[in-house]
Amino acid sequence: MNPSQLDTATDALRRRLPFEPEIMVVLGSGLGALAEAVEDPVSIPFGALPGFPAAGVQGHSGRWVAGHLEGRRVLIQAGRFHLYEGHPPTMVVAPVRMGARLGARSLLLTNAAGGIDRGFEPGTLMLIEDHLNWMGRNPLVGEAFPGEPRFPDMTAAYDPALRTLALEVADELGIPLAQGVYAGVLGPTYETPAEIRMLRTLGADAVGMSTVPEVIAANAAGLRVVAISLVTNHAAGVTGAPLSHDEVIAAGAAAAEPFGRLVRALIAQEARAGAK
Ligand code: HPA
Repeated sequence: MNPSQLDTATDALRRRLPFEPEIMVVLGSGLGALAEAVEDPVSIPFGALPGFPAAGVQGHSGRWVAGHLEGRRVLIQAGRFHLYEGHPPTMVVAPVRMGARLGARSLLLTNAAGGIDRGFEPGTLMLIEDHLNWMGRNPLVGEAFPGEPRFPDMTAAYDPALRTLALEVADELGIPLAQGVYAGVLGPTYETPAEIRMLRTLGADAVGMSTVPEVIAANAAGLRVVAISLVTNHAAGVTGAPLSHDEVIAAGAAAAEPFGRLVRALIAQEARAGAK
């Protein structure tokens, strides 16, 4: 998706939104339930906007939901485009760029991930401190989009103030929130045990097939980012059990309640983290 196609899609979405959003939220595999809690929802399938393909793997509903949550104006991207589906990197990050252009200041991302840290049991929530881009591509390759720096700084890709806030909010709610480094891999295969040993050696605590492109684009677009992984399974080789997508979806459903409470509280309190 080039800059002019992005403008066209953004204008089309703007016309259908009831407001200028404050916060954009990306809901990952099996975590879509939060979209149902939105008040006065306006739902727009991705495929309804020019330049977008109809999307989805099982567990991805593929739509925008705009409305109020905790009194805040939120724009939810329920379902995402993955590199492993063959989408161009600019398509994968187009929604995030659109959210920034529509006025969102903060981006809250969720995903499902495999636990590399042996202490991460399925159901663990992990605040992402930093990432390893092991996807073999960067969504900013090519001509820089208008308003985006050629060489974006990634020193604080996951906003420190929002991370502190997330830890405080989790503590207030009594929801355990681990912290760690997320390794983004291309997929669609799950990793081999040797790859997981490699990623652990490199400093990764969890692994997944999303989020990294969006976080890169969000930083280039000036959004403040906070991201939380739901560990749905032990990564390959940690227990020796085979991995399955069904297990990932089931773990997402099982953790939906605390995850939803945490995300809602973070939305409610986001302003507490001050300006960037
Ligand atoms: N690896 C990669 N992506 C994932 C995993 C995993 O183990 N679990 C959920 N998404």
